[in-house]
Amino acid sequence: MSVRQLFATPFYDAPLGDDALIEDLARSVQMLAQEDRAGRNWSKAHGYRGYTSYASLDDLPLRDPAFADLVRALNRHVAAFARACAFDLGGRRLKVDHLWVNLMKPGGTHSGHVHPGSVVSGTLYVAVPSGSGALKLEDPRLGLMMAAPQRADDAPEALRPFVYAEPQAGSVFLWESWLRHEVMPHAGKGDRMSISFNYR
Ligand SMILES: [Fe+2]
Repeated sequence: MSVRQLFATPFYDAPLGDDALIEDLARSVQMLAQEDRAGRNWSKAHGYRGYTSYASLDDLPLRDPAFADLVRALNRHVAAFARACAFDLGGRRLKVDHLWVNLMKPGGTHSGHVHPGSVVSGTLYVAVPSGSGALKLEDPRLGLMMAAPQRADDAPEALRPFVYAEPQAGSVFLWESWLRHEVMPHAGKGDRMSISFNYR
């Protein structure tokens, strides 16, 4: 008898491996959160608790060499993930499409969503105060499960309908962009800083 695990949902978790760059990026995120007035206004108008450059800036790697260095490092991580996903890219590479920063205050959260129009999405964590919120990942087949029973508390990770990924400062998380995810409420102290991105 064998029970095969089919239809994998790949999730990548690795350290960026450049502490000096993380420090530079922390300064850059804090500076943007102070100086990007359009982004501050957008965050306020949309109930974002803190600051995000999501809707205001689309050229961070041109503005600040720390972001250009980050994209070079992320390109390697995304290429490794694409290989792990066995993507046939016809000899081409995935390229960054959008990259934005997030500075979340205590109490902040980001409800479940996907990233349409891209192939791989991810986040680099720059500062993660304790209790500041895991990334909750959701089985994309939940809507199909109808009468399926709950899973046991000690079910293997691959069989759980929700997985909570706990980042550390310097963690790179990557997933396929269709995977629904949610930032759990920031119940810690201090600013949680991250940089999110889409590749296509
Ligand atoms: Fe997201």
